[in-house]
Amino acid sequence: MHADNFTNWLHNQRRSIHRIAVLTGAGISAESGIPTFRGEDRFWHGQEPAQFFTPEALVTFPNECWVFFDHLRVISAGTVPNAGHQALATLQDTHQVTLATQNIDGLHQRAGSSEVLELHGTLWRVRCDNCDFSVEDNRTPLPELPPLCPGCNGILRPDVVMFTEALPADALHRAWQAAEECDLMLVIGTSGAVYPAGAIPDIAQSHGALVVEVNPNRTALSDEMDAVVRGTAVNALPVVVQALQA
Ligand code: OAD
Repeated sequence: MHADNFTNWLHNQRRSIHRIAVLTGAGISAESGIPTFRGEDRFWHGQEPAQFFTPEALVTFPNECWVFFDHLRVISAGTVPNAGHQALATLQDTHQVTLATQNIDGLHQRAGSSEVLELHGTLWRVRCDNCDFSVEDNRTPLPELPPLCPGCNGILRPDVVMFTEALPADALHRAWQAAEECDLMLVIGTSGAVYPAGAIPDIAQSHGALVVEVNPNRTALSDEMDAVVRGTAVNALPVVVQALQA
């Protein structure tokens, strides 16, 4: 449906919506200028991102990996949250919101969302696989590539979830719980192609919540949605949020 029809659809559901769970993916940051993972714009810095999001890559070619991640940090730092990120932040004023994101760019926090569950980690923390060292680091570009651990001199890694790695247990648990307890879930800008994040909308729906997708394109999740709003984060999401707040 078009975003303008969402108000009517919501009204016809005759539900009280107090708790809202949100799942976002790369699409919500696309209009801020950060390429998605699977769209035609996916070549970041001329490189296919998938090759760098593996634990093996960090060990086998750490320099190339870090050039890629440092570039991604520079791109992300140069962007600003868009109207979609901002609309979600305002939703906190009227509803109990739990926002889980697969994004590592930090734009939800910069838009003012609190307690963002970062299912795939963050670009803005680096850590050491050899010892327990971990630190927030917002510098762009990093002064030294690859960055080295001040504790054991090993090569640091961005605190992001690589393919085959487990998601942070606490964030995943809280996202799962929010899905079980919400009245409505918004699924925004994600292809739903990656497990377990892509399974979260189904948890919400099977516990009785309405599930609503906001995405300009059809996804692996579209068929199971209660409503599909075909529009972008910037154009459609503020309209959807406004309808929820009316
Ligand atoms: P994808 O690149 O798979 O999907 C992006 C989605 O955003 C697609 O469904 C697009 O249709 C949609 N989209 C594009 N532009 C949009 C816009 N302006 N507004 C709203 N939606 C838009 O990205 P993710 O689903 O986030 O994992 O990918 C999931 C995970 O795959 C990533 O977190 C990453 C990757 O492997 C890790 O790094 C572990």
